[in-house]
Amino acid sequence: MKLLVNIDHVATLRNARGEGYPDPIEAARVCEEAGAAGIVFHLRGDRRHIRDEDVFRLKENVRGKLDFEMAASDEMLDICTKVDPHLCTLVPEGREELTTEGGLDMETVFDDYKNRVFPKLRETDIEISLFLDPNLRDIELAHELGTDAIELHTGTFANADPAKRQHELTRLRKAAKMANDLGIKLNAGHGLNLENLPDLLETISVLNEVSIGHALISKSLFWGLERTVKAYLEIIEDFYG
Ligand code: PXP
Repeated sequence: MKLLVNIDHVATLRNARGEGYPDPIEAARVCEEAGAAGIVFHLRGDRRHIRDEDVFRLKENVRGKLDFEMAASDEMLDICTKVDPHLCTLVPEGREELTTEGGLDMETVFDDYKNRVFPKLRETDIEISLFLDPNLRDIELAHELGTDAIELHTGTFANADPAKRQHELTRLRKAAKMANDLGIKLNAGHGLNLENLPDLLETISVLNEVSIGHALISKSLFWGLERTVKAYLEIIEDFYG
């Protein structure tokens, strides 16, 4: 099981003052040196954090897995196929949202993905992952499309009050089982932190990758990036050895 660190919010901090620091590429290097297996970035349509030049520098400098998270616009598909990351994670994107608010609605996007998005990405070797809520119907449709992987949206679990937490974990477990039975690689992300990651790993034993950003980067302000990445890796090692 691999830890991929999302470095978007290093760029958020940089952009707050329009200076060249902190540099997300330097953050990516520190994360990888601390043991992270790869780096995730989300190039948004509004370029609010990661920018085009960051993407190309990340491609040049990241040694491990590079996960390009994006909405499936023609513009992003063009950039992604030029950058040629290992993985493309497709997400819904709303202009006003503070962060990705939920998984893809597969019924709505199915035809467009089948006719426009998948054929374009399938001209390359880029692995495709779909960001999904733990809904069985969405997973069925993702399988029908022939996706390589799905990333289960863990945000609802992460934000659930104690009364709903077990219910959310059960939904994630059922979704993970279905994806695994269908031979789809399983990733997870959103809202994960040092406190809730153990419960997720306890619940799902077939994860390939977790993608963690905001809580990890926030904690690194106090602990430093190296120590923080290592703390996440220790949790993962406790479960995966
Ligand atoms: N996975 C996806 C698809 C996301 O959109 C995000 C947020 O950019 C993350 C993982 C990371 O979430 P967080 O920043 O809450 O760790």
